[in-house]
Amino acid sequence: VASVSGARDLAGTTVVVTAGGTREPIDPVRFIGNRSSGRQGVALAEAARDRGADVALIGANLEVPPPVGIELVPVSTVAELRDAVLSRAADADIVVMAAAVSDYRPVNVAHTKMKKDAVGDDVSIELTANPDILADLGALQHPRPVLVGFAAETEADADALAALGAGKLERKNADLIAVNRVDDGRGFGTSDNEVLIVGSGSRIVTTVDGSKRVVADAILDAALTERP
Ligand code: CTP
Ligand code: CA
Repeated sequence: VASVSGARDLAGTTVVVTAGGTREPIDPVRFIGNRSSGRQGVALAEAARDRGADVALIGANLEVPPPVGIELVPVSTVAELRDAVLSRAADADIVVMAAAVSDYRPVNVAHTKMKKDAVGDDVSIELTANPDILADLGALQHPRPVLVGFAAETEADADALAALGAGKLERKNADLIAVNRVDDGRGFGTSDNEVLIVGSGSRIVTTVDGSKRVVADAILDAALTERP
């Protein structure tokens, strides 16, 4: 692992990492969120920093302390995360989308707390699709940063996981997708991670089973080999 040997193989590069989970407000006290803690993204930011990169960490509702020695950009909604990433993409060499991004948001956000009396027993909240940030980055003209996405999946089978990753890579025009098993206490909120890194043409670049820091270094190794 490069960081253990102290290699500064990312010196002179700019790495943007998104981490955590977005929150889409329903009313002033409620939101639609997810179980992402931000640990894997924070480990990526730390690893990139230790390897000499200039790092911007776009942190969505992080449940873990951010690293020192990086630029932290706190965000909450998908719209905020999208603005923060897109405004930095032109200057970035690598963008890692480790954040869990809400696929939908409420069409209407109540400005005052929703009250049971007013709403009644049966409630539906109308949702609309959010923009796909990774796909937006994938549509940028070259030269564009190396784009790494994540896919948190509940499939048990390695071939099925790889196929899901390859499908996402192609749809979003990303360079690498790190596929992560999240059932049975794996993935979310834990310190270890099992990850399959998929590249273009359904290539399995590597599989990693270890701490989020080991996974982070493997992802950065793979991203470096994708650089033009
Ligand atoms: N992503 C994104 N913008 C979104 C949704 C996802 O940039 N609106 C990014 C995530 O940060 C991740 C990758 O796309 O790096 C894959 O996210 P994932 O939720 O696994 O894929 P989806 O395309 O949303 O498909 P689904 O949730 O249906 O599996
Ligand atoms: Ca999704």
